[in-house]
Amino acid sequence: MDAQALYALRDVAGVPTHPVVFLILGVVTFALHIAAVQIMLGASGLTIWGALSQDAHKRRLAQSMVMVAKFMLSVAILVGVAPLLFVQVIYDPFWYTSNVLSAWWVIGFIIILTVAALLWFFFNAKNYKLGDASQKVFCPGSAILAVALLLVVGFIMHVLTNQMLSPEKWLEWYAPGGVIDSSGRSLHDFNLARFLFFISLSVPVIGAVLVGYRRFYLPRLGDESLKMSREYLDWTGRLGQSLILFGGVVSVVIGAWWMATLPEKAAGFALSPWVIVSLAMLLATVGFAQWVRMGRMDTLWAYAVLPVGAVALIVVAAAREALRWSILMGVHGYNAMDYPINMDWYSTILFFVTFLIVGGGALAYMVTVAWKAGQTAGVYTPSPFITRMGNIAIGLIVLWIVQYFAVGFYTWLS
Ligand code: HEM
Repeated sequence: MDAQALYALRDVAGVPTHPVVFLILGVVTFALHIAAVQIMLGASGLTIWGALSQDAHKRRLAQSMVMVAKFMLSVAILVGVAPLLFVQVIYDPFWYTSNVLSAWWVIGFIIILTVAALLWFFFNAKNYKLGDASQKVFCPGSAILAVALLLVVGFIMHVLTNQMLSPEKWLEWYAPGGVIDSSGRSLHDFNLARFLFFISLSVPVIGAVLVGYRRFYLPRLGDESLKMSREYLDWTGRLGQSLILFGGVVSVVIGAWWMATLPEKAAGFALSPWVIVSLAMLLATVGFAQWVRMGRMDTLWAYAVLPVGAVALIVVAAAREALRWSILMGVHGYNAMDYPINMDWYSTILFFVTFLIVGGGALAYMVTVAWKAGQTAGVYTPSPFITRMGNIAIGLIVLWIVQYFAVGFYTWLS
């Protein structure tokens, strides 16, 4: 497709800061999003596995995982919005065209996601004694259907991302055989290997979570309210390690399948340094986990498996972006870096202050409280320092809201 036609689709208002900022934030927030998706899918898989079993360990794990999945579903949705913002800013000609071509599914996305979330909450509410292997599980089908719908949601996102990479096919999709189809009912293009690669990573990712889970609850052994024995925790650790090893290897194989199925125009990317480094990082994570398995499962190293995996995921996210760049710039001549800049310092500074200080402060407080509460037997009372952290976090949010309205009114009145 003619690059000038693509440039003509850009927002005439330009972008409010340098495009590279959006590019980097897009990669980082996509990595966050996909990590949350993978923990959610992995945890829901383990929940269903446990729900369909009478085994005491599997059921105890399901009881923990149903909550992890519920929480991570919210996180996945929340941090899904961020890459959405960034991709539509610098790649708007591609993203919006892809969305309009499948508009029916873009709207359906929200409905399907809502039904899936409700089903998961329903399953959770109806099975608050999931951990008790003597109790019958109520309607496990609701959990299975929820996961199936969540996968449909992810697939829609995958199709939108994939369709944007083929501007040369847009016209044929819009008017097949010369007859306009403006229904937006079709999903035109997908790459199963690519989709399965991101989904399959759920297996090693939830494995890494289990290794941390085991280490986290070790200090609370013997706490009757938790019903966790040494035997149970060791079982979760072994399961986690097996999932990392097995899932990691399977994901790498599926990743190779994805690279082998790249469109001809991008086939050379398969052997690029991006792919080699991603492969090395994924295998290094598996290797690191095995090193932890050899006598370090009770040490703080057990917590390091997840952050090491997170670094590997960021590298994979960067490689995914490099693939998009190599197609849009390399094949179609669209340079996202020459997007006209209409510098807006206020919104740029506000974004980073909100993200790092207000968001970071509130998150640090919540994570600290959750961590400490999880490690304490009985009722947890925060120390004066942590209470102060909470007060500061609330103060920052109040300040943010005040400045938001103050600037709004000032702009309105002036
Ligand atoms: C909860 C179920 C979800 C699943 C299973 C899921 C899964 C995925 C997967 C597999 C991808 C990678 C697609 C690819 O590169 O081929 C992806 C990308 C993406 N997801 Fe999600 N997702 C979910 C929810 C959401 C939600 C609720 C949002 C937005 C509010 C969202 C926003 C995005 C965006 C913007 C991208 C692509 C960004 C880009 O092109 O750079 N996702 N998602």
